[in-house]
Amino acid sequence: MWSILNVMPEHKFIVCSYSHNLSSGIVSWQSPSNIALVKYWGKYGEQMPMNPSISFTLNNCNTKTSVSFTKKSSEGFEFEVFLDGKREVSFDPKIRKFFERIETYLPFLKEFKFKIETSNSFPHSSGIASSASGMSALALCLMDMERQMQSSITEDYFKEKASFLARLGSGSACRSLEGPLIVWGEHIEIDGSSNLFGIKYPFQVHKNFQHYQDTILLVDKGEKQVSSTLGHDLMLDHPFAEQRFRQAKENLSKLIPVFKNGILSEFIRIVESEALSLHAMMMTSMPYFILMKPNTLEIINRIWKFREEKGSNVCFTLDAGANVHVLYPKSEKKTVSKFIEKELLQFCKNGEFIVDEVGLEAFKI
Ligand code: PMV
Repeated sequence: MWSILNVMPEHKFIVCSYSHNLSSGIVSWQSPSNIALVKYWGKYGEQMPMNPSISFTLNNCNTKTSVSFTKKSSEGFEFEVFLDGKREVSFDPKIRKFFERIETYLPFLKEFKFKIETSNSFPHSSGIASSASGMSALALCLMDMERQMQSSITEDYFKEKASFLARLGSGSACRSLEGPLIVWGEHIEIDGSSNLFGIKYPFQVHKNFQHYQDTILLVDKGEKQVSSTLGHDLMLDHPFAEQRFRQAKENLSKLIPVFKNGILSEFIRIVESEALSLHAMMMTSMPYFILMKPNTLEIINRIWKFREEKGSNVCFTLDAGANVHVLYPKSEKKTVSKFIEKELLQFCKNGEFIVDEVGLEAFKI
């Protein structure tokens, strides 16, 4: 028997007992990365977003994770993390913190010894955050274990809880379980939207956005200057916080007719404004940061010039770093690829870039 307490919304994810025992086994999942169009920046409580966000799920940037588990009798958490086959002790604190946060929802964690083996399709040092796809894949592996112990778990509950758990590892990870467009955070016009987990964007999406392209230009591959934890914290007493949260909500509202009618010019305005607003928040926090590099600006200016001259629909977005995501419709793939090759690759570190496009959900491997 398992019972669900119904006091707070998150209590539906607390399981009191399981119907089957597990002694050992292995589970493996592959999760996609995602790129936000309306950005999440600022949180409260346990990883709750101050504003709703929406992202494209990516197709080629992903993490594969296998979790081998064996029942143990000793106390405490026991795990080892391997990245590309090599023991990676630097991941331990993050995983320990994740386990501590989710133990209430997965009470079996201390009963097993885990070997977590993970690998990313993109280079670890690329500056592409692996935390979204990584935390999603790990959450799915742990949910897979839970499902083996409780076969009455429905597919919807499985996905919702996996997204809920991934969020507790890294906020944006809750948008890395399904595709092609995921909303996280309550929004008055989006039924079912929640601060607790990501949901599939529920409205019509025009064919202009099918297989939307994302070429990621690796401008700077170094360690992040500002961890996202610090960045989110800086929004707590940021002078422009309230306006920013309002702006994000409004931008998400504005995207609804844009997605429905395929209005690319408006899509570009919103997406680029979101990217620059995210960086403006960092530049106006205390302490302040500039995460863009001269080459980031050079790329942005070239994109604007090309768009103006050729009437193209290419645009950019940024994460909390210097790399540029060049976004464009599939129908412009040929011309924009040529433009990127001829004019933009010179600004990438060692000419490195990743060709990607909008993709679909995580899956079991
Ligand atoms: O998931 P976190 O805590 O690493 O935050 C990610 C924040 C951004 O990538 C900058 C924006 C977003 O919505 O993904």
